[in-house]
Amino acid sequence: MIEPFKERIYVTRPVFPTIEEVTEKLRDIWSAKWLTNNGPQHTMLEHELKNFLKVPYLSLFNNGTIALMVACQSLRLSGEVITTPFTFAATPHVLSWNNITPIFCDVDAETMNIDANKIESMITPHTTAILAVHVFGTPCDVEKIQEVADRYGLRVVYDAAHAFGVEIGNQGVGNFGDISMFSFHATKLYHTVEGGALVHGDKNLKARIDLLKNFGIKNEEEVVMPGINGKLDEIRAAIGRIMLNYVEAERQKRIRLHEIYNEELAGVEGVKLMPVCAQNVKLNYQYYVIRIDEKIFGRSRDFVYDEFRNYNVFARKYFHPLCSEFTCYRQLNSSRIENLPVANVIGQQVLSLPMYGGLTEDDVRKICAILKAMRN
Ligand SMILES: Cc1ncc(COP(=O)(O)O)c(C=O)c1O
Repeated sequence: MIEPFKERIYVTRPVFPTIEEVTEKLRDIWSAKWLTNNGPQHTMLEHELKNFLKVPYLSLFNNGTIALMVACQSLRLSGEVITTPFTFAATPHVLSWNNITPIFCDVDAETMNIDANKIESMITPHTTAILAVHVFGTPCDVEKIQEVADRYGLRVVYDAAHAFGVEIGNQGVGNFGDISMFSFHATKLYHTVEGGALVHGDKNLKARIDLLKNFGIKNEEEVVMPGINGKLDEIRAAIGRIMLNYVEAERQKRIRLHEIYNEELAGVEGVKLMPVCAQNVKLNYQYYVIRIDEKIFGRSRDFVYDEFRNYNVFARKYFHPLCSEFTCYRQLNSSRIENLPVANVIGQQVLSLPMYGGLTEDDVRKICAILKAMRN
């Protein structure tokens, strides 16, 4: 008989800097008397993150969703954009907010990312871009996606909200496609409380993105486009500068916890572990996600999710429901179940388990023991 955890174990917990570090930075901001609109903390963080992510150009934002909306505007996307149903609501919503129809393409059974081999069959004369997501930090098939895009003259935008610090062959993952978006939400491996960034390799695009995120204001006399307020303030930029010092230590802790999950769950029939990436991929270990095959495990994902709660373990059905099941998208032709067979199976199987540096190795072993005891 396994005892429930005394306190709730959530799927994640934000990394907190020390209050002293924050106070020291607040003093700097108070002396500078500058709270927002491209202040010194903002300028320094843009520079530091550009180096950290190994990308040529970076623009900070107040969150990843607004950043992605601006990415679509900056590339003047319209019509239809091919994307994945297995993602967070923000991904298709930014298309809708740009008056673009999301076209859902099925996902790869292994990586859970958009299936690059199926994209071509979804292209119509209205298609302007592919919006792919590096789900759980596993990189998409960037080469194949680019190859299809080039053949049809499409833009490629990556939602890299999960992929902070991920690299492919020593290159930051943000170097692929036309633009990538990172989210710095509090629950991410790296955060600025709320925040985000767009990264890319085009100097002219940086100027356009920076105008779009500041109402389109060029100078005191000229407003040159219908922009939005996407600015990151000085306080969050300062916290972001502190948090950069925490990323690698947090990543190392999560690597160890991943190893324990893998060790404990290897060979448990009906439990599929996270995809294994090519050797040249550097991962960030932000999430630990399993898939429960009810036929083999003897229990459904929903049973496992509910039973975990009895032990005070709050896992998350991430991503369920699929975006194609949302009331606002389910009438789309591309949302039909026959069009998305793999995504529909994964959506019923996936479960994100607790993963954050503050978990102990014993916590993880106990979570695995609880799961294994559920087998039927
Ligand atoms: C895949 C994905 N895209 C977009 C977002 C939106 O980012 P933000 O919360 O910074 O707006 C998130 C999550 O937060 C996400 O997980």
